[in-house]
This record gives sequence, structure tokens and C-alpha cells, in this order.
Amino acid sequence: MERSEILELCRAPLRIGNRDLSTRFFLAPLAGYTHLAFRTVLRRLGGMGLATTDLVQASMLWSESRKSLELVATNSEDRPLSVQIFSGRTEDLVKAARWLQDRGYEGIDINMGCPMAKVNGAGGGARLMCNTDGAVRMVEQVISAVQLPVTVKMRLGWDSTALTAPQLAAAMENAGVAAVTIHGRTRAQGFQGSVNRDGIRQVVQAVKHMPVIANGDVRTPEDAVSMMQETGCAAVAIGRGAMLDPWIFRRIQRVAAGETGDTDPTRDEQISFLEQHFCLMTEQHQERSCVLFRKFAAWYGARLGIPEDLEDRLRRFETAEEFGEIVGRVRERHGERSRTIPTALMKVPNGPVEHW
Ligand SMILES: Cc1cc2nc3c(=O)[nH]c(=O)nc-3n(C[C@H](O)[C@H](O)[C@H](O)COP(=O)(O)O)c2cc1C
Repeated sequence: MERSEILELCRAPLRIGNRDLSTRFFLAPLAGYTHLAFRTVLRRLGGMGLATTDLVQASMLWSESRKSLELVATNSEDRPLSVQIFSGRTEDLVKAARWLQDRGYEGIDINMGCPMAKVNGAGGGARLMCNTDGAVRMVEQVISAVQLPVTVKMRLGWDSTALTAPQLAAAMENAGVAAVTIHGRTRAQGFQGSVNRDGIRQVVQAVKHMPVIANGDVRTPEDAVSMMQETGCAAVAIGRGAMLDPWIFRRIQRVAAGETGDTDPTRDEQISFLEQHFCLMTEQHQERSCVLFRKFAAWYGARLGIPEDLEDRLRRFETAEEFGEIVGRVRERHGERSRTIPTALMKVPNGPVEHW
């Protein structure tokens, strides 16, 4: 496709199941980060078509554990939203799906990509990719239990000798899955190496009409456009790229609209973003908001012009007053930082995935 055609596609809305999504650029789930506050503050910046919650253990959800209820907390501003569930047991997934439907949630995403040992050990996450028939039976049961659109998020396969994603995605389409998100790495790769766009394209080619959402390593609007162009995907999910640059969805819309020129947010917009994110977190988590917010400091530091000593303080602050004082200093010294590589980029999870 020509670039102009790709940009036209980037501007087009997308229908997944019974849901009309205004853009094709989605927030990928990031456990520990994609809580209500982060989703909301990103939505306010514009351009995001769909968000998904962190993964939630199905049995913990239907049994209403406090932590699970916190993970699926939402409100009318937080739309459209899918809730991601995981389990190795069909009955738990079915019960969780019904629980979500009964409470007005609008979309269910089943995790088949998580590489963590504790998830795989119980037969969930990426382990489901090792048994196509079993995974399909499981998903069929969920689909027949609810009227909501059911989507699946997977990797390319368990390892390079078992690239099962094309076959699995085709089987999922036949089973009635509304869309598949594909992270272009295997389970064995963890987060190492670069994303295999060719592998994603093979998934796109293996299905008939089902939208395929491509995922992995999209950090800039150009990455998003080239992901669409090279893979033929219908949509793109962005995870870490949204923490490194919360304005990425808005920037993509501008590029898609053919706008040129500087799209950087102003200093005041950046400061206001920090304040809003913390304020939303405090509304939901009260005194725990300081601890929860600290994790974002390493992702936000470079892009939001936070000098390194202040980023360091944001990783340790204890009270809302201290947060206000640090942000006041960021305002005074904004842009002083010259290094452009964010701290978080140096610390992605690595090592053998068995040890995570
Ligand atoms: C800290 C972290 C937490 C994640 N949590 C989830 C999760 O809960 N569910 C899921 O399907 N994927 C999860 N992922 C994977 C991401 O959704 C995404 O597939 C991966 O990070 C590659 O995309 P990216 O380069 O845009 O981040 C997580 C990734 C990271 C780094």
C-alpha cells in the first residue's frame, strides 16, 4: 500500500465485535500500570481507541478479591474498555466472563501471551498456545456463555520451534473470537530481541476477516504507521511506548491527518499531566498512590523534562505534599535534562523468563 493509503487507514474507525472504536491505536495491558488513573489521564490527551485492564486472575475476579476489584475499577469516562482475564481452567474463565457481563463491562480479552512462570504453571497465559485444540475449546465456552465480544492476546508461539500463532489465530476466528492481538515475540524471548513483524504478517495472512492488532516496540507515530504498512494489521496496541510518551496516541492522529510541525506538548501540559495522573491515582488509591506512582517516574523522566535528581526523588517520595514540592521544582527546572534515553529503557525485564 502507498503511504497515503496507509494514512487513510490510520484515520479510519474500526469495528470489533459490536463495538465501534474511533481510532485503531489501543493501549496494551501493562500489569501494575494500566489502572484506571493511567487509562483516564491518557484518554484525556486524545487519540486512544481502546484500553485494556491489567491481566486479572479469573477465579479471583468472580470470587471478588479486593485486588481484582481494584484492577477492574472503571467509570463512564473510561470507555471503551476491555477487561483481560487469565486462567488455565475453562470454568473459571466462563464464570469471570459472566461476572463481567452482569456488571456492564463491554469486552473481554483472554490472555494467552503472559510468560510469567506462575501464570504458565497453572496452564494459563502463553501455555495455552501449546495446545491449539484445548485453547479453542476453552474460548468457545467463554464465547457461548456471554454476548460480549471476546478477544485474545497472544505471542508468536512458545518458542522459535513452535510458532503457533497463525494457526491458533485462524482457529480462534472460526471459534468466533472478535479480534486477536499479537505481540511479535515468542514466550521464550520474553522482551529480548526486536519484534518480528514478518511473524505478525503471517498471522494477518492466516485469518479471513478478523481484525489483527499488532503489538510490540511501537515508540513513535512512524513506528505505528510502518507497523500497519509492513504487517497489514487492522490496529496497533501500544504498551511501553505510551508510558515513555503519553502523547503518542494524539501524535499518531496528527501524523495520520497529514499535520506537520512540532507536536510536543508544552511545559504546562506536561506538568498538568503529571498532576492529573497523581490526583486520579489518589482518588482511587488514597495513601497508596505515592507508592504506585513511583514506578512511573523512570518512564516519564526524560520525556517530561524531569531532571535526573528530581526523577530520583519521584521514585522515592512519601507524601502528596512532597509530590507537590517536587513538581514545583520540575516546573522551575523543566527541560534542563539533556539525556534523551529514558531510565526505564535501560531496565526492561531480561534474563531467562523462567526466573521472572
Ligand atoms: C510491565 C509489563 C506488564 C505487562 N502486563 C501485561 C498484561 O497484564 N497482559 C498482557 O497481555 N500483556 C502484558 N504485557 C505485555 C504488553 O502488553 C505488550 O505485549 C509488550 O510490552 C510489547 O508491547 P510494547 O513494546 O508496546 O510494550 C506487559 C508488559 C510489561 C512490560
